[in-house]
Amino acid sequence: MTPEELLAAAREAAGYAYAPYSRFAVGAALLTTGGRILAGCNVENASYGLAICAERNAVAAMVAGHPDDREIQLVAVVSPHAAPCFPCGACRQVLREFHCQQVLVDEGGGVRSHRLADLLPHAFGPQHLP
Ligand code: THU
Repeated sequence: MTPEELLAAAREAAGYAYAPYSRFAVGAALLTTGGRILAGCNVENASYGLAICAERNAVAAMVAGHPDDREIQLVAVVSPHAAPCFPCGACRQVLREFHCQQVLVDEGGGVRSHRLADLLPHAFGPQHLP
């Protein structure tokens, strides 16, 4: 699995985005520690605040479909409308919950890898709960 292959899976998912309100399609593809690829796209709603990001839909597919393989090695995020397209703050937090290490973004002609810890410093986690 090369970074380009994971980005290609994210790009394909972006093609399925349901984004009639923002017209901003996003695709995400996770690589789990078990070697699975799970993809998701953003899904919007006429009640705007109910939009769900591509990354969180990919996480939901992983959690619901693969209870024994819920650790994320890396995630690729792609939008045909923005390069790079970084995960929003809420998605960074959800990715952190499932131990995501790296975030790949399409720089438009090249791939760049970022540590999630750099994108979400001082993250809140289960260790902060009593
Ligand atoms: N969006 C994502 O899918 N992922 C992100 O990390 C950023 C934003 C979506 C949500 C909404 O459908 C559209 O992009 C515009 O905000």
